[in-house]
Amino acid sequence: MNAMAAQGAAPVYEDRVVTQFALAAVLWGVVGMAVGVLIAAQLTWPELNFGIPWLSYGRLRPLHTNAVIFAFGGCALMATSFHVVQRTCQVRLFAPALAHFTFWGWQAVIVLAAVTLPLGMTSGKEYAELEWPIDILITLVWVAYAVVFFGTIGIRKVRHIYVANWFFGAFILTVALLHLVNSAALPVSLTKSYSAYAGVQDAMVQWWYGHNAVGFFLTAGFLGMMYYYIPKQAERPVYSYRLSIVHFWALIFTYMWAGPHHLHYTALPDWAQSVGMVFSLVLLAPSWGGMINGIMTLSGAWHKLRDDPILKFLIVSLSFYGMSTFEGPMMSIKTVNALSHYTDWTVGHVHSGALGWVGFISMGSLYYLIPRMFGRKEMYSVRAIELHFWIATIGVVLYIAAMWIAGVMQGLMWRAINLTARWSTASSRA
Ligand code: HEM
Ligand code: HEM
Repeated sequence: MNAMAAQGAAPVYEDRVVTQFALAAVLWGVVGMAVGVLIAAQLTWPELNFGIPWLSYGRLRPLHTNAVIFAFGGCALMATSFHVVQRTCQVRLFAPALAHFTFWGWQAVIVLAAVTLPLGMTSGKEYAELEWPIDILITLVWVAYAVVFFGTIGIRKVRHIYVANWFFGAFILTVALLHLVNSAALPVSLTKSYSAYAGVQDAMVQWWYGHNAVGFFLTAGFLGMMYYYIPKQAERPVYSYRLSIVHFWALIFTYMWAGPHHLHYTALPDWAQSVGMVFSLVLLAPSWGGMINGIMTLSGAWHKLRDDPILKFLIVSLSFYGMSTFEGPMMSIKTVNALSHYTDWTVGHVHSGALGWVGFISMGSLYYLIPRMFGRKEMYSVRAIELHFWIATIGVVLYIAAMWIAGVMQGLMWRAINLTARWSTASSRA
């Protein structure tokens, strides 16, 4: 990248939209996680819904998942992808007006979600709850996003397409495909529709979508962040560029087939469940290849970890990534899933990935990005970042450890009182 910068005067970048997305990510991160804290409290004190239907657990839970994944995660991804693609292609964003449409359109989607979900309007599909008019708006915004991103790559001044852009590009293309296929529905009114699929096909499409939402929304794009911001912050080149290319192709190929691990012991044919399990086990290899590539980028610069809290966020995110991508394949083994499914173990796994990996890599990247957008060298207080890092790390570790213990206990207690149902494939679980 230094060589790229040396190719003449830097172009004037379109950074207003980057700043807007970055600040929106912070705002929605705070809102989404606050709703997470509220629903966590409701699990212990259900009366915290104050008897108001809009604040009931069943409505706020999808609000939490939509806010953290699509509002916080989505804005962080859009901010960083627009930032990275301009720097690595050495050009201004293609069609800046469309980039601004992407920003305002995405905020409109978020606000509509925040209104309709508490009102109880939902398609009932996890992580794809929004009703059809909002789905159409998402499609329009996504097309604009893709045109800006790939258009910028198309007019690049640097021949080589840096690996971070491959990950961002795969995320944009795949999410488009997932959204179009899984959201196909028959509307019966402005606020209600029914899935175009039925029965087990509906379940399979849903979890093909759901697992690839993990693989592409919650992983591929964030790996794009990893491949740009870790080398930048560590001031070291990527450990192995060759590994990053193998990592890319292996990861995107394998993720596509792992969805059935969400449907173990259901009406889905047994062979399809086994295919999902096998691909999930294979997924450990590319995931860890990426993690190792990111962590080893620090080779020769390990000492920086001691007093650079931004680097701590970025590197610890990879530790959580490694943990959750080891745990996931284990949970996909049918006999392990027989214990973990329907327990808090899953929720623990989710948050070691979503908070530990997605949250931390985003926070590290935003701490790198935001001061630069305001022409400053660093954040207002580096000590506050250090404090944030430690509070967040201790919080996530306590969160996921508690969920593991609770989950395993729940699974064992359930098995103790219900021996046959936990082991039979045609059990009442379907
Ligand atoms: C302060 C931080 C957070 C808290 C307190 C929190 C809390 C919660 C709670 C209480 C649930 C419901 C669990 C259940 O139904 O038993 C949940 C679910 C979920 N959260 Fe969070 N969360 C936080 C951050 C995040 C972040 C940053 C993400 C994603 C980037 C995330 C993604 C999810 C997902 C995907 C689920 C659904 C899990 C499933 O269906 O198994 N959360 N969260
Ligand atoms: C090699 C990688 C991974 C594999 C093989 C994997 C596998 C699994 C398995 C087997 C389940 C439990 C399914 C069930 O019993 O219903 C699960 C749930 C989940 N995982 Fe992973 N996981 C991986 C990585 C991740 C990462 C990195 C994240 C987040 C960034 C994540 C987010 C989730 C979510 C949100 C769920 C809950 C879905 C739901 O039921 O609502 N996973 N995963």
